[in-house]
Amino acid sequence: MNHRSSNETPAVGRLSVARVKARRFGQCALVATGAIALLGSCATNAPQDTWQPKGPNAKMIDDLQQPVFAVAGIIGIIVSVAVAYVIWRYKDRGQPIPEQTHGKPALEITLTVIPALILAVVGVFTFRVIFDLARTDDTQLVINVTGQQWWWEYDYPVQNEWGITQPIISSGQLVMPAGTKVLLRETSRDVIHSYWIPALNGKRDAVPGRIHTLRLEADEPGIYAGQCTEFCGLSHANMRMEAVALSKEDFARWIANQQAAYQAPAEGTLAKEGEAVFLNQCVRCHQVDGLKRPDGTLAIAAPDENVWSGAAPNLTKLMTRNTFAGAMFDLLRDACRDDVWKADSAEFGVKYLAGVDEACLNVNDLRAWLRNAPEVKPMYANPALLTETNGKYRGMPNLGLSESDIDKLVAYLLTLK
Ligand code: CUA
Repeated sequence: MNHRSSNETPAVGRLSVARVKARRFGQCALVATGAIALLGSCATNAPQDTWQPKGPNAKMIDDLQQPVFAVAGIIGIIVSVAVAYVIWRYKDRGQPIPEQTHGKPALEITLTVIPALILAVVGVFTFRVIFDLARTDDTQLVINVTGQQWWWEYDYPVQNEWGITQPIISSGQLVMPAGTKVLLRETSRDVIHSYWIPALNGKRDAVPGRIHTLRLEADEPGIYAGQCTEFCGLSHANMRMEAVALSKEDFARWIANQQAAYQAPAEGTLAKEGEAVFLNQCVRCHQVDGLKRPDGTLAIAAPDENVWSGAAPNLTKLMTRNTFAGAMFDLLRDACRDDVWKADSAEFGVKYLAGVDEACLNVNDLRAWLRNAPEVKPMYANPALLTETNGKYRGMPNLGLSESDIDKLVAYLLTLK
């Protein structure tokens, strides 16, 4: 088609302008993609970085993924360069179709055997890691984990060797001793969730009606961040978790404090009034171990069938945690929180075990949560569906508390430590 008449020239000119524009756009897109990838790898504060193992289980995965990533990367580069060369070299420039050949058995067999060998070697090492990560015979401490929309419950069954003489039920963060082989026994009360603390191990689904095990071990005391990694509804992104590793001595202190008897607030205090509000409004769903009704009977939480997942976090010793609302909010103010994250491992336990006091309480988010929980954490895409379909609540409902009730409740919650 090389016989254009002279009056077509302007059209050809417009075409090349469009081509130059397209090429420029392509170059910009390439540079932008590269820059984003590069900047992403520069993050210094990346607590969920899978390339920074902080315990032997995560280290096993890392030792596998590093060489596999390198091998896959080299093969990826070779294939990309070959494809780019072929596109450039054999682009249609009007040349005749090259000679068509079939059947080069030596080449075809070689190109089949090499990938098969590479995959077989990768497979052998992968299977070994899978079996090592599934071991349960060396467990030193068992913690039951239950996922539900949208928080995790941690239940420490009686284990006398750890001083756990009565079950401890907590939420928000998993507290564990460092340098210890911990076995999580995971399940779910509603839909499938997935437990993932990248620095300590890979992911494991929490499935209703099943128990899946996951090994966790942290080399050093510290806080290790995680995230639910199975889409589980509206607040999936707000279903966070933390593993707090303490030295064995600090862990023993934590255990002792978790089992310490309930201390009722003194008569005539705002906190005592808060205890009454709690008994009226909160205790239907939230358990506080040892809390008694005015008639002297123990208050036992019994969420009714209107609560979708059938449970709410146990709030005994709430102020020994550092998050609330499914770890969506820090229980500590920024300054105090930063302190806990940055504490080096020698002094970490002391700072963590101090608990939350009035000066450090993240009172704004806590009050907003008490005032209208579904407003600060998405729970129903359409509130109308709540009555139309099943009439069941997910998460904490709006209780319509007065500001004065909220004052009293905050004062009371501060005593739970
Ligand atoms: Cu639970 Cu996503």
